[in-house]
Amino acid sequence: MTITFEEIQNLPDTYHIDHIRVSPNIILAPMAGVTDTVFRRIILGLGGCGLVSTEMTNAASVSPKALKRHHLLDFYPEERPLTMQLSGNEPELVAAAAANVEQLGADIIDINCGCPSPKVTGGGHGSALLKDLPKLGRVLRAVKAAVSVPVTLKFRAGWDDARLNYIETAKIAEDAGIAALALHPRTKEQAYKGRADWGRVAEVKRSVGIPVIGSGDVTDAADALLRLRDSGADGVMIGRGAMDNPWIFLQTAQLRRGEPMFEPTPADKLAFLNQYLDMCLAEMPDRLALNKLKQLIGQFNVGLPGSATLRAGVHRSGSVAYARTELERFFEPYMAATVPM
Ligand SMILES: Cc1cc2nc3c(=O)[nH]c(=O)nc-3n(C[C@H](O)[C@H](O)[C@H](O)COP(=O)(O)O)c2cc1C
Repeated sequence: MTITFEEIQNLPDTYHIDHIRVSPNIILAPMAGVTDTVFRRIILGLGGCGLVSTEMTNAASVSPKALKRHHLLDFYPEERPLTMQLSGNEPELVAAAAANVEQLGADIIDINCGCPSPKVTGGGHGSALLKDLPKLGRVLRAVKAAVSVPVTLKFRAGWDDARLNYIETAKIAEDAGIAALALHPRTKEQAYKGRADWGRVAEVKRSVGIPVIGSGDVTDAADALLRLRDSGADGVMIGRGAMDNPWIFLQTAQLRRGEPMFEPTPADKLAFLNQYLDMCLAEMPDRLALNKLKQLIGQFNVGLPGSATLRAGVHRSGSVAYARTELERFFEPYMAATVPM
């Protein structure tokens, strides 16, 4: 499937979450363990990303006392407008947590109704709420009443194929005063298997009057714009595709403008990995920064022969210095390359 320049020109590039303007409408998906302040700032710095979100944070862990040392909610002013995502299933508790994160500086509060992890669903949080929509409605109304910033919902298509309820969920959310929806159109049972069915995003878009964002399997710039065109969604969220290719937002913006797309050279990729490591080291102990690099390199598109060796080398690293040497040694033969490889 291809998209013509004329079609691209007709695509929306902005949407509003109440008074908050999101432009461009290609945004970073929340990812636990990944979208911390470092990842968010490095993505925003590359350009083309219209909105970022914290990782999911358990509402029970955000009492005013705990807030100061809650690293999941650390952020810098340049990340704003910033979404903070909460999980929980007790209306008063989630509402109190929402009021706390509003105090902390959240511009948007997002409720997680999609996480499939048994640790989360076991406690009735995340996608478990899809099995109890009246309760979801109570949580959303309580949060809405407790804060003055917009409240959004991120959800899945249903618990399993026999219990698809994305339209009903979307309508309950709209009735509760939710300002925008993001649908990852897989079921909880699917977790990350199969394909995200973007036809479901289109159905939700036709069923409600609030902005609808689609999330799932977007892997390059053309794909992002095709999803936007075919689903009629107001925006597109990119998660794993941004770990694979952090320039995906910039490239999408360039494709829209009809400019040549930036293609990173090996030197750009090394610089990116080093910058990521440096930014992590500025925020956390060496051991955690090293773990972050290990996690990213597992998904990052190195795109050179022998990248499996690089991944193994970084994973084996017992220190930041060792990991840096692995990176330098691997990229060294390609540093003179002026073309993407
Ligand atoms: C490692 C990882 C962590 C995730 N954590 C969250 C989360 O904290 N909150 C959330 O709403 N979705 C979370 N998701 C789901 C993503 O936001 C997104 O909806 C999903 O990965 C599909 O999009 P993608 O194919 O672009 O990754 C996570 C996904 C991954 C891969």
